Amino acid sequence: MRELCDKHNLLLILDEVQVGMGRTGKLFAYEHFGVTPDIMTLAKALASGAPIGTMLAREDVAVAFVPGTHGSTFGGNPLVCAAALETVRTILEDGILNRCEEIGEYLIGELESLQKKFPAVVKNVRGIGLMIGMGLHIPGGEIVKKGHEKGLLLNVTHDTVLRFVPPLIVSKAEVDEMIKILSAILAEV
Ligand SMILES: Cc1ncc(COP(=O)(O)O)c(C=O)c1O
Repeated sequence: MRELCDKHNLLLILDEVQVGMGRTGKLFAYEHFGVTPDIMTLAKALASGAPIGTMLAREDVAVAFVPGTHGSTFGGNPLVCAAALETVRTILEDGILNRCEEIGEYLIGELESLQKKFPAVVKNVRGIGLMIGMGLHIPGGEIVKKGHEKGLLLNVTHDTVLRFVPPLIVSKAEVDEMIKILSAILAEV
């Protein structure tokens, strides 16, 4: 995409709304792939839950917008921007990225152990940082329901993928607790 955009003088826009802000162990997911966008969107985790949506652009692209070009009722409100600044500071200064990478690798390893233990149910485990999917050979609805009964909130997507996107501050003990419950559920199904 980057090569095509450069060749045809087009702007590359990357949507980092879900994958940005440390979710993959780097501040922005594109950093894993050696590609830089011209425009990028961020939201969700950017202000730790305070409602924000942003569009960032390279300096020479950003000049296309001047104050007043684009209006929004709550756009740029100081309270939410302060929450975003503090979130960025925390991610960069409190070791969140390293933590996310480490605990993500640990969680992926633990899920892979479950795949080895229950190969008839678990098809694959994939992900980066703390954005992880477990592909199943069976629909995941029953596993999600059993999780709720045992105090574990799980999410299934595309019917057969369990999605793991825990908070970036999730502890090893919490991962262990989750794996214990999930293991019991996989044994049941
Ligand atoms: C990947 C992705 N991009 C964009 C959006 C839209 O973000 P917003 O609701 O802040 O406009 C979402 C919302 O779910 C999303 O998941």
